[in-house]
Amino acid sequence: MNEAVQTSSDFTPRVFSGIQPSGGLTLGNYLGAMKRFVQTQETGVQSIYCMVDLHAITVWQDPEKLRNATRELCAGYIASGLDPKKSILFNQSQVPEHAQLGWIFNCVARMGWMQRMTQWKDKAGKNTQNASLGLFAYPALMAADILLYHATHVPVGEDQKQHVELTRDIAAKFNHDYGVDFFPISEPVIEGAATRVMSLRDGSKKMSKSDPSDASRINMTDDADAIAKKIRKAKTDAEPLPSESKGLEDRAEARNLVNIFAALNDQSIDQVLADVGGKQFSEFKPMLAELAVEKLSPISGEMARLMQDTKEIDKILQDGALRAREIATPILQETYRIVGMVG
Ligand code: TYM
Repeated sequence: MNEAVQTSSDFTPRVFSGIQPSGGLTLGNYLGAMKRFVQTQETGVQSIYCMVDLHAITVWQDPEKLRNATRELCAGYIASGLDPKKSILFNQSQVPEHAQLGWIFNCVARMGWMQRMTQWKDKAGKNTQNASLGLFAYPALMAADILLYHATHVPVGEDQKQHVELTRDIAAKFNHDYGVDFFPISEPVIEGAATRVMSLRDGSKKMSKSDPSDASRINMTDDADAIAKKIRKAKTDAEPLPSESKGLEDRAEARNLVNIFAALNDQSIDQVLADVGGKQFSEFKPMLAELAVEKLSPISGEMARLMQDTKEIDKILQDGALRAREIATPILQETYRIVGMVG
């Protein structure tokens, strides 16, 4: 990748990120993404958050469930603290420029780049011949999401780092091939204690909405009893908690619970361990459950309230799409001009 072409510092700072409306939101989505989106919004930098429904259909989605999940995700964004007046909230399919720029990037990205993507390998599994073409091209559409807004910063969890790096490669290749300095080389922003929240049942696996075991994750719609029960049953080891983070090495499950505590309570790992070092899990788990319920219950309550008025949610999404298009349209037009389309 040719860093010399240009860097994101040449562009006005702008943040873009997205979440798939493909089933319930997990604590991983909240701590790895949404909570950090809210912090970014408060810095005042222009922020655009998308419900990536075009990405969701790269694997089968029941239409009614997709519609509901998109609205629920919008409710989740707002309930977590995003303000649709400050940030732009919209669903991807309503801004057709995403698919249009995605096509251009399908022609820039190389097959070999896509084949290296770990998410492709994980999701396609052994039977790659039966995976959708969309699943293979997924990262080119993600690059289009980001670059359609000339976004300079992309807050994501650890698992999306490779896709943002591919976005940088696509931007650099486009700029190089057409001899322009048009797309920024966007930075992934992967910060905080919970950029990779792990399964509560297996500390080597990511917490995920697609895990068959519901006990492996905390869903943003779980009630207080379910949250407390899942934390009580979370896999741990027999040792007391250490007083320093070094003591969490080789203790994946213990580290995960401490990370979750730190992220929920806006503390560093060391601050948490200074308080809880020496405690047994029988003491720490109820503390974590209480904290999780305190922080998550207001969000799930507000999500349920917002979901009672889906018309209002749809209005927010329509307004967001209009505002997003104001930024996206001239960037797509200029891309077409650079590429040589007559318009
Ligand atoms: P998705 O929908 O899988 O996840 C949305 C966000 O949540 C983060 N995340 C996690 N963070 C920490 N621990 C976990 N266990 C965990 N699980 C999920 C993800 O890293 C992500 O930030 N391809 C993206 C969606 C996307 C996108 C974009 C993101 C499409 N276009 C443009 C940024 C910019 C995805 O599938 O995320």
